[in-house]
Amino acid sequence: MTTPRRLLLVNGPNLNLLGTREPEIYGTETLADVERLVAETAAARGFEVRAVQSNHEGVLVDAIHEARHDCAGIVINPAGLTHTSVVLRDALSAVELPVAEVHISDVRAREAFRQHSYVADVAVVHVIGEGVAGYARAVTLLCDILTGQAEG
Ligand code: DQA
Repeated sequence: MTTPRRLLLVNGPNLNLLGTREPEIYGTETLADVERLVAETAAARGFEVRAVQSNHEGVLVDAIHEARHDCAGIVINPAGLTHTSVVLRDALSAVELPVAEVHISDVRAREAFRQHSYVADVAVVHVIGEGVAGYARAVTLLCDILTGQAEG
């Protein structure tokens, strides 16, 4: 089977409120802006995108499981689940697709409870604290890996 030219974009809880949620931390761009940016960046590399956002962990797990049938990689901002969810980490690990972890804010410079990511060591790309633009860089780095153009 040839590798599918599709990425799954996963946004976790509360990211539906992007644009109005704590704009001093997360900026004023909306989830629709994020999904458009990711779709455009991926399209330039020949990939289409299926986007999911949910406030429910199980919905995200189901979407990640589905991806193993027809996606080549996953771009995920797990939001608060980053710091709590063994379940989400296990789902990402189970599907054995390359994962790019994105955080809009610099979680390393915030509260102590944001310092640990359950997802970090199942991800091959990490883009942290670059704002919404970080999603585009994550897509580019993931596409580099998928198309064999990654350095190193
Ligand atoms: C976030 C950082 C998380 O700590 C937080 O819970 C979020 C968003 C980010 O994109 O900066 O919801 O993942």
